[in-house]
Amino acid sequence: MLRKVTLLAAALLLVGGPALANSGVEKPMAVDFSFEGPFGRFDQAQLQRGYKVYREVCAACHSMSMVAFRNLGDPGGPFFDPKYSAATGQTSNDNPVVKALAADTQVPDIDGETGDAITRPATPADYFPSPFPNVIAAKAGNGGIAPPDLSLMAKAREGGPEYIASLLQGFGPPAHGVTLAPGQHYNRYFPGGVIGMAPPLAPDKVTFDDGSKSTVKQQAEDVAAFLMWAAEPHMEARKQMGFSVMIFLILFSGLLYASYRRVWRGESH
Ligand code: HEC
Repeated sequence: MLRKVTLLAAALLLVGGPALANSGVEKPMAVDFSFEGPFGRFDQAQLQRGYKVYREVCAACHSMSMVAFRNLGDPGGPFFDPKYSAATGQTSNDNPVVKALAADTQVPDIDGETGDAITRPATPADYFPSPFPNVIAAKAGNGGIAPPDLSLMAKAREGGPEYIASLLQGFGPPAHGVTLAPGQHYNRYFPGGVIGMAPPLAPDKVTFDDGSKSTVKQQAEDVAAFLMWAAEPHMEARKQMGFSVMIFLILFSGLLYASYRRVWRGESH
């Protein structure tokens, strides 16, 4: 028996060993995100910090073209304020924090009189602008690889936010036998190990308004949480709905059982 197991293990190593050794790619680190599990919720302070990391660092290269500034103030969003919700007859477009954040960013537009291309401060209705005018410029500015749009990135990659948080902390000297061309970097979480993105984060790169210490780990986890919210802004509502459906089903089966007992009361088999 023992011999069989040893043989099997040896066979598995022979088959799987070389593949593991060559790639040098690691599984994402486990991160204890607040939004995991059936009752998980986004941590609003973390989403606010994550937005700041995206805006001040990642937005220089990555678009998030499916997110509008007003979404930041939607229920469950980083800057949601119940004062500006359906309950008060107002919307996130009226939220002064959202307005100010939008106005901090310039978006391209056309001058209404001359037709010239101009930029103006964004309004809550504007979508996040692209850092590059087109994909050719995006490629040219990044060694031939256009930085992908991050709107849905947290859902597009296996491991989701944990993969993103790991990727941002995974840069280092190349694994044995890997040579890097100019503009390439080694990342132990990126499939293949060689990525065209330079390490974007560094300690204290972003100053957090809530006083959180600005380590690379903190920045990476916060921006990963923000990207998860962006990819699935209605996650909390979905979980809540799932829970209500479960409660309903439990009550409903009790009710069914009670009526079954009642219908068949007094009947002998
Ligand atoms: C200087 C430009 C630049 C900055 C700043 C930058 N990136 Fe990137 N990023 C890139 C490029 C280029 C790629 C494509 C790399 C490749 O496919 O080899 C990329 C790829 C990615 C990917 C995709 C990895 C995959 O699995 O395909 C993620 C996720 C990512 N970046 C997240 C971020 C985050 C989050 C930030 C901010 C903390 C950031 N990036 C900042 C240039 C940048």
